[in-house]
Amino acid sequence: MTFQAAVLTLYPEMFPGPLGVSLAGRALGEGKWSLDAVQIRDFANDKHRTVDDTPAGGGAGMVLKVDVLARAIDHAREMMAQTPPSGLLPDTSPLHGEDLVDPPHAMGRGTADEVGGGGVGGGGAGTIPVIALTPRGKPLTQARVRELAAGPGVILVCGRFEGFDERIFEGRQVEEVSVGDIVLSGGECAALMLLDACIRLLPGVMGAASSGHEESFENGLLEYPHYTRPQEWEGRTIPQVLRSGDHAKIAEWRQRQSEEDTRLRRPDLWERHVGARVQSASGAR
Ligand code: ADE
Repeated sequence: MTFQAAVLTLYPEMFPGPLGVSLAGRALGEGKWSLDAVQIRDFANDKHRTVDDTPAGGGAGMVLKVDVLARAIDHAREMMAQTPPSGLLPDTSPLHGEDLVDPPHAMGRGTADEVGGGGVGGGGAGTIPVIALTPRGKPLTQARVRELAAGPGVILVCGRFEGFDERIFEGRQVEEVSVGDIVLSGGECAALMLLDACIRLLPGVMGAASSGHEESFENGLLEYPHYTRPQEWEGRTIPQVLRSGDHAKIAEWRQRQSEEDTRLRRPDLWERHVGARVQSASGAR
């Protein structure tokens, strides 16, 4: 099963970027996921290829036009519907194996002209979520990443300028997602983050090494600290318990460190974790 990703952006050359190397790059080459970077500007319908306009009501910046976005999203949905839902992409697919070094703007499977616009993207691809990356969105969580990674793929829409015309969200059932309380210059880095988080969870992408860690994070706790040789570095030593060989003691120490670090660094997570523990204890009674 190939996880299909389409990214709608004004900068397709930013993809696959860091996702073309290491684990994600190898998985892309192996057909475990596919990527289409779609140029939003290809869906403008005037001779200047205009994608943005001034905000209604005045103010600074520019707003991405709803009609252009809608055509780009419809195209992506249609493109996904035409791709077989499972199995490897053919060797001629936009990003596959040896193609990784090609100029990224050569990506994409077509333009608005080829597809012919029209229609709320539906058909078989109706289950593929469309997500706009925006600081106004719902914060991304590991739970949402898991849901996405378990699905057929995702269409990501990257904003620039002041943002999106609000009507696109209801008009095309677009979910708004933020990757943190920071403002990026566009949604592209956020899209890369979201994809990276999904791809590492795809079957066969990471070894068994990741599964335990995932569980501990979904426990609602930060992971315990790690050490490796040398035993002493600039006067700092590895905690003795980690050299004891007593696995029960090590597990207990790690659990305590996880809890302490979560409490100090992420009081928000800690409160939720404690609340969940209390609830499961009372439910067990
Ligand atoms: N675009 C700009 N800032 C963003 C953020 N924090 N999350 C997602 N997309 C963004």
